[in-house]
Amino acid sequence: MIPPVSLFGHDRQILQRLQRRDRYALLLYVFFGAVIVVAGEAAAINLSMVDRYGFMPLLLRGVIYLLLTLSLWMLLLRANRRLVTGLMAEKRRGYESILHAYDSALSLKDTYTGGHGRRVAHYTRLIAESMGLQETEVDSVSEAALLHDLGKIAIPDHILTKPERLTIDEFAVVQNHPAIGAEILQSMPSLRRHATAVRHHHERFDGSGYPDGLCGADIPLAARIIAVADAFDALSSNRSYRHGVSVDRALDEITQVAGSHFDPKVVAVITRKLARDALFAAHAEMP
Ligand SMILES: [Fe+2]
Repeated sequence: MIPPVSLFGHDRQILQRLQRRDRYALLLYVFFGAVIVVAGEAAAINLSMVDRYGFMPLLLRGVIYLLLTLSLWMLLLRANRRLVTGLMAEKRRGYESILHAYDSALSLKDTYTGGHGRRVAHYTRLIAESMGLQETEVDSVSEAALLHDLGKIAIPDHILTKPERLTIDEFAVVQNHPAIGAEILQSMPSLRRHATAVRHHHERFDGSGYPDGLCGADIPLAARIIAVADAFDALSSNRSYRHGVSVDRALDEITQVAGSHFDPKVVAVITRKLARDALFAAHAEMP
């Protein structure tokens, strides 16, 4: 089974900010509450109330008041966070349904292309994690990977599923898919941030790719990672017209074109033992 693509990156950051803010608010409250209790005790002493009631009952009263109001604060803040978490979960479900709708639409056009998005998303996540990217960046690049071939929706079926070699004209049509995918994403506010990575996932490190012929570090890092994951899946998956090669062979073929097709730093990561083992394990789980 393919592990689900994490979609929590941005939401998780907001929740962490909210928790930090709540902790800060509670600390401030405890500090000022304690100041008020101490000031109250000082006033009670000055007004000779201590002589009448004793010191401990007055102090206890202040502490109980502070604890009760602190508990109330904590309950309110927790309820606030639960509400925010619920809203985020609802938003996430809507977001996931968009991604799944895209994946299903592509599956209807071409079985290989449909599963391809989810596999590339998973390989991309493994590579991004091995590169030491932050959690939110890993989530983001993985989401972009899931959507990387979105533009293929606009490619005619007879070209997309053609088992024979494509003609020059047909290949020119296929080459439009990164730009079309980016254009579709640009029109969707919740997915717009992935448009750049999708547009450039067929650029090559030496500048010989498409659609813009970017080279080296001018190609967004997310696109450079997706390009390697995309090639790995293309080589190691079964197509309608051929069987996929072994993981070792796929990695070797990718390594041979490091520096020309692919970013050598990204390729170096997938050839490290840990990442290589993770790719082996992931590939074995893929349908
Ligand atoms: Fe593509």
